Amino acid sequence: MTIFHLSTECYPVAKVGGLADVVGALPKYQNKIKDIDAKVVMPWYNKHFVYDYDFEVVFDGFIHQGSNMLQVQVLKETTNVLGFELYMVKIPGLLDRENPYGYQDENFQFLAFQHGILHWLSAMKIRPDVLHCHDYHTGLVPFMVENCYEFEFLKGVKTIGTIHNGEYQGMMSWDMVSYMPAFDHYKWGLLDWNGFINPLASMIKCCYAFTTVSEGYLEELFVSFKGLESLVREEFSKAYGIINGIDTDVWNPETDPMIDFNFTIKNALKIKKKNKLKLCKEYGLNPELPLFAFIGRFATEKGADLLPDVIWRSIKQSFGGLNIIVLGSGNEYVERQMKELNAVYSNFATDIGYKEHLSHKIYASADFLLMPSRVEPCGLNQMYAMRYGTVPVVSYTGGLRDTVKDISTGGSGLNFTYPGVDDIIHAMSRGLNIYKDKAQMENLVLSNMKFDFAWEKSAEKYIALYNQ
Ligand code: ADP
Ligand code: GLC
Repeated sequence: MTIFHLSTECYPVAKVGGLADVVGALPKYQNKIKDIDAKVVMPWYNKHFVYDYDFEVVFDGFIHQGSNMLQVQVLKETTNVLGFELYMVKIPGLLDRENPYGYQDENFQFLAFQHGILHWLSAMKIRPDVLHCHDYHTGLVPFMVENCYEFEFLKGVKTIGTIHNGEYQGMMSWDMVSYMPAFDHYKWGLLDWNGFINPLASMIKCCYAFTTVSEGYLEELFVSFKGLESLVREEFSKAYGIINGIDTDVWNPETDPMIDFNFTIKNALKIKKKNKLKLCKEYGLNPELPLFAFIGRFATEKGADLLPDVIWRSIKQSFGGLNIIVLGSGNEYVERQMKELNAVYSNFATDIGYKEHLSHKIYASADFLLMPSRVEPCGLNQMYAMRYGTVPVVSYTGGLRDTVKDISTGGSGLNFTYPGVDDIIHAMSRGLNIYKDKAQMENLVLSNMKFDFAWEKSAEKYIALYNQ
């Protein structure tokens, strides 16, 4: 069975968040299953990876976007270094940029990506068994495959859509229709939601099946989905929740080249301390105190706006003291407050930016990882944390409630029901009590490291779904 994963991100080529981690790992694990050939198609980016590895041009052609004629090249990575075939779609001016997101003309960018992929496959007579679309950026593919004249050759190819984040739906005005490949206009209803072209809604309407990245998140979408609640209810018979795994080759404290001191479950208690000592020294923190960390985008869904209050209040209120370190970027207001708090409190440190190496060091050093998310479709940080012996302190939502049970019920971390400052601080103070009980803390560190979040099970679930 041949599967093409279509995505704007893929680790280690281009990463903004968890989507990249998933698309960089899932196909690799799928390829370990008999008779499965999973590949990835993504936009070309002007990033290290494309210069560090060799590519060959496997397709060179043109598409029409409105009255513009765009050159489309598809480049294949020749060494298969990632454990799957990687194809990158290059369109000068649109798909040859530094970053996946953040451009004014992203509607054109993502339309061109989807159009380019389907044009290439049709022209080269490549007919995969499954086109697996990830998030709204590829959400129009299920519609296009069935309805655009240009892709007649692909009609009937099965499409699966995975919703990694329903907060972003890619809505655009109907003016954009003239930039899409042609189709019978009476089919407009398959694209429309509330008077806009809505790629995520269209994906749900037109795909054969759609998945969310946890069961918990799927349940939540029925009642809270930025206006698409009734759609997901109507289409529930083709909805599946499949939890993400983690790539245990990349996220392995025993071999991880990004951390200072590698460790196994046998020496974790000693070596984790060494990592913590080094990190604390670097950031001027006190290694004797428990270390809480936050890693992530400064976005409302992540509860990042709550961090400033959580930081100063917990530092002021904590009995016996604690350290907090925050790595992230995004909302400017939060960034500014982080810097200001950094200047005031010696037991708070922050690093603003996206730093893959530092994130690994923090997972390997921290005692607790804080995730005050308001929305968390799956969340990978809590799983990485556990694998590195760190205790997650998380809000009870989406994938977090599926992966982190509260210690009071025999679980692996601390839950708080409502992501508000008081509840977060209360959960942190429970964490501090556990920390004081050396035996309990050590047990938790070791049992968390044993959790099995490997991709194998979920990769099988996707294959079962494709077969179905
Ligand atoms: P999301 O995709 O919503 O941001 P996930 O928990 O699924 O959340 O994945 C986040 C991924 O991005 C993890 O691999 C995490 O370590 C990484 N990450 C987030 N922010 C940063 C940062 N500032 N520096 C390095 N890695 C980061
Ligand atoms: C999205 C979600 C996150 C999830 C990731 C990978 O970015 O916000 O919760 O883990 O996708 O599926």
